Amino acid sequence: MTDTVAIIGAGLIGRSWSALFARAGYQVQVWDADPGVLDRFAGDIATLCDTLVAEKLLTDRNGTLARIRTCPTLEEAAAGASFVQENAPERIEFKQDLFARLDAATAPEAIIASSTSAIVASRFTEGLTHRERCLVCHPANPPHLIPVVELCPAPWTATETLDRAEAIYARMGQVPVRMTAERDGFVLNRLQGALLAEALRLLGEGVVSVEGLDATIKDGLGLRWALMGPIETIDLNAPGGIVDYATRYGGFYARLAQDPASPEVFSIENAEKIAAAWPQDRSPESIRARQDRRDGRLAALRRHLASEQS
Ligand SMILES: NC(=O)c1ccc[n+]([C@@H]2O[C@H](COP(=O)([O-])OP(=O)(O)OC[C@H]3O[C@@H](n4cnc5c(N)ncnc54)[C@H](O)[C@@H]3O)[C@@H](O)[C@H]2O)c1
Repeated sequence: MTDTVAIIGAGLIGRSWSALFARAGYQVQVWDADPGVLDRFAGDIATLCDTLVAEKLLTDRNGTLARIRTCPTLEEAAAGASFVQENAPERIEFKQDLFARLDAATAPEAIIASSTSAIVASRFTEGLTHRERCLVCHPANPPHLIPVVELCPAPWTATETLDRAEAIYARMGQVPVRMTAERDGFVLNRLQGALLAEALRLLGEGVVSVEGLDATIKDGLGLRWALMGPIETIDLNAPGGIVDYATRYGGFYARLAQDPASPEVFSIENAEKIAAAWPQDRSPESIRARQDRRDGRLAALRRHLASEQS
């Protein structure tokens, strides 16, 4: 019998997960609190699958669509599921309510994973009967183009839960990254936050233009980062590897770390100042068109990287 996956919350992230699980051969049962989202779901998921086909990330379009069905209640979507991916809005009370209902509606061995961007699992699973099968599995947006998924356990998440979730995502072609303990922001957004803090400080101080700052990443650091992470990067940036790098440059970085950006760099005033210095058409249609162009180029980059590995 094919394993069944429940998708709870069918917006941007839930839709993408539905296509990925179905592409991997799972039967997918989808529920959303908004019946209108479920009414539109068949059309929306068909469009998403068309995009995947165009990007050469999906071959069996009709088989994938045939494995996905919407359900009128959470309990029906959860029935028989061995894995649940929750993607409701980022509100703690939603996660608490949904996890309590899912804990009751699924077999005790089913894994219940949340896509939450920033709420650690201990805040919405503590009182559950079978809390050892719950964890955060945080994707990047959109999961069908950016394969990393962060697995963050609560203190009571079983090792076996992490093992099974890791194997499931890896089999689907995603790249699971395991954490050993909860940290605010997990790994991805802590790294993104550190970089953004410094970027917003430099822009706020007028030290560099937006074009110059973005070029520093796009035409500089980011080129290497598409191939390797920052640790492998520094291992290759000194003849003797990472310890040699720390010997040569550690003092400089330690000096910078003594003077971190202040929380004010994230203020609305600073964002408005940067937006005014970098005029763009920020109408919803224009943002959408730029997102589509970005996603097309991301898909091409993924194909290129995949061909390098094969
Ligand atoms: N968008 C991103 O960049 C991104 C990236 C990674 C993780 N996430 C996380 O994924 C989750 C979903 O985000 P999204 O971007 O898909 O949001 P979204 O607004 O696109 O979708 C949320 C969906 O949940 C539905 N919903 C509302 N209340 C609900 C409830 N009580 N139960 C079930 N469904 C309900 C809404 O109708 C909507 O369809 C959030 O926790 C978010 O932090 C988002």
